[in-house]
Amino acid sequence: MSNIDFEKFSKYSKPGPRYTSYPTALEFNDDFSYDEYIKFLEEEQEKISIYIHLPFCRSACYFCGCNVVFTSKEDKLSRYIEYLKKEIDILTNHIDTTREVIQFHFGGGTPTFYKAFELDEIVTYVKSKFTNWSSDAEISCEIDPRFFNEEQMKVFQKHGFNRISFGVQDLDEKVQKEIHRIQPLELTKKAVELARKYSINSINTDFIYGLPFQTLKSFKKTLELSTQLNPDRVAVFNYAHVPWLKRTMRKFDETTLPSPEVKLQIFKYTIDFFEKHGYKMVGMDHFAKPEDELFGAIKKGELHRNFQGYTTKGGANLIGIGLTSIGEGERYYAQNTKDMKIYEEAIDIGKLPFERGVKLSNDDFLRKGVIMELMANFHIDIKRVEKEYGINFKEYFADDIEDLQEFVDDNLMTIDNNEIRVSTTGTLLIRNIAMAFDAYMKKYAQSKKSFSKTV
Ligand SMILES: C[S@@+](CC[C@H](N)C(=O)[O-])C[C@H]1O[C@@H](n2cnc3c(N)ncnc32)[C@H](O)[C@@H]1O
Ligand code: SF4
Repeated sequence: MSNIDFEKFSKYSKPGPRYTSYPTALEFNDDFSYDEYIKFLEEEQEKISIYIHLPFCRSACYFCGCNVVFTSKEDKLSRYIEYLKKEIDILTNHIDTTREVIQFHFGGGTPTFYKAFELDEIVTYVKSKFTNWSSDAEISCEIDPRFFNEEQMKVFQKHGFNRISFGVQDLDEKVQKEIHRIQPLELTKKAVELARKYSINSINTDFIYGLPFQTLKSFKKTLELSTQLNPDRVAVFNYAHVPWLKRTMRKFDETTLPSPEVKLQIFKYTIDFFEKHGYKMVGMDHFAKPEDELFGAIKKGELHRNFQGYTTKGGANLIGIGLTSIGEGERYYAQNTKDMKIYEEAIDIGKLPFERGVKLSNDDFLRKGVIMELMANFHIDIKRVEKEYGINFKEYFADDIEDLQEFVDDNLMTIDNNEIRVSTTGTLLIRNIAMAFDAYMKKYAQSKKSFSKTV
């Protein structure tokens, strides 16, 4: 990567969507009704990706932006399983359950806060309802290494789990103390070894940059130590600091957060580090070994990004189950309620705990395609987009292309008649580049809606 003028780049540090979950900054609204959602579910015939949210955690990691319920009460945990089962019953009354399941993911919270027999109970129930599983389905779980044992791993093996993602975040003691997550390297190593012992050969580790007290020096050490885990894939997320949404983030003294310049230095170092260690960058925040199937997908233009990160399993309908879960069809998003009481009340009267959603207009659909392409491949094949969506790209996106001139002038990207290509340095600012195509960002520029910083 060429020399970078980090000070000049810090001008790009501004609030913006992460584009990890949603392709544009579109907002869920009341125009999408429960009945419309049910109709979509009943008519869909695509393959299925199932996401089950297990929201419980023992104690708060202060950086956490996930939808979490803190508890140590056993009865709360088992009660939730009963409701999950009832939700699955209602869902499967509206879905053709013979459709092929190509992906299953346990997310959280901490899914492994549940005991082995409880995890078994949930997966067994899902499998009794959805009966057509692809032989190469991707079956995965997010795991906090501090809560993980061999009994649970045996259950995962029994059900064909083939991918595990471990949360690590940072290996520096001072940072760990500040984020309220003490997790020695040895403990994480044991968790990874356990997964390997049971033949999980796709192991991912999550790190975050931008946390309190992180410096270039401390993060170099973290990366160095992380090689002992020898992960197949690594995610290095940009810390999304949104204290107005997440109370625990208010515990941080903001003066201890690294500056945008330091964050850029850390991320640039991270890219160089993983390249040197035989990994290749995938999208904006993932690294994988070259033999990983993601690279075959990049070549074929089949890399996708969904709520679980980058995947080769595109084109499926995402069925979200559990508190706060999000479902996604080709033309809609639908989210379950975040309130446990409302969740239970809906299910008690035989309804899905659907809270809100959004239908995609033709313009939303097109922009979703373009932004996803940029986020996954750092490249847009203009002719392909024109053919697929029946538009003249340069006319349709005239204003957006004008907004991109600043990036072209800074050598962060090139635009010609056939393609838009982001330079290696430009990948550091891919969220800013994607924002130019986001009609909603322009709308929100005047509103109070606020996002985490892009850098
Ligand atoms: C749903 S969390 C759960 C993983 C599991 N509970 C654990 O802590 O190991 C998945 C990942 O999201 C990332 N994450 C959580 N909060 C974040 C934030 N505010 N900004 C960026 N990444 C975040 C962390 O890297 C975490 O491992
Ligand atoms: S990072 Fe994981 S363990 Fe920590 S609070 Fe968030 S979901 Fe729970």
